[in-house]
Amino acid sequence: MTETLEYKTVTVQEVGTWVQVAVEKDFPSNGGVCAEHKGLQVAVFNFSRRNEWYATQNLCPHKQQMILSRGMLGSEGEEPKVACPFHKQTFSLKNGKNLNGDHCALATYPVKIENGYVYVGFKN
Ligand code: FES
Repeated sequence: MTETLEYKTVTVQEVGTWVQVAVEKDFPSNGGVCAEHKGLQVAVFNFSRRNEWYATQNLCPHKQQMILSRGMLGSEGEEPKVACPFHKQTFSLKNGKNLNGDHCALATYPVKIENGYVYVGFKN
C-alpha cells in the first residue's frame, strides 16, 4: 500500500525525528536549501540577517512548483517571509500563512542547530 505524502505543519512538541540536513557553515546566508525526508521536500532557510532558521514545505501551493527553497527572504513588519520566485506570492516563515493572496498556507517545520549541523523536525 502506498502512503499518501502530505505536507502538514509540525510543532516542536510533535517532533518524533530530527533529520540532519546539512552542515551549518555550508548553508547560504539569507537563503535556503532543499532537503528531503520520506519523499517530502522541505525548504530550509538560514535567515542570517535576523539570526533565525525556518523550514517550510518546498512546494509552492500557487502552481504546485517545487521551488520555495530558492525564494527571496524578507520581512513584513516583524514577520519574516519568503517570496516564491515564480509569481511572488509571499508566505510567513513563522506559520506559513499566505500574506498576499488566497492560496493555501505552507506547512512549517521546526529547525534546530546542534554541534554545527542543521536539523529539521518531522513527526516520524
Ligand atoms: S508558483 Fe509560486 S507564486 Fe506561483
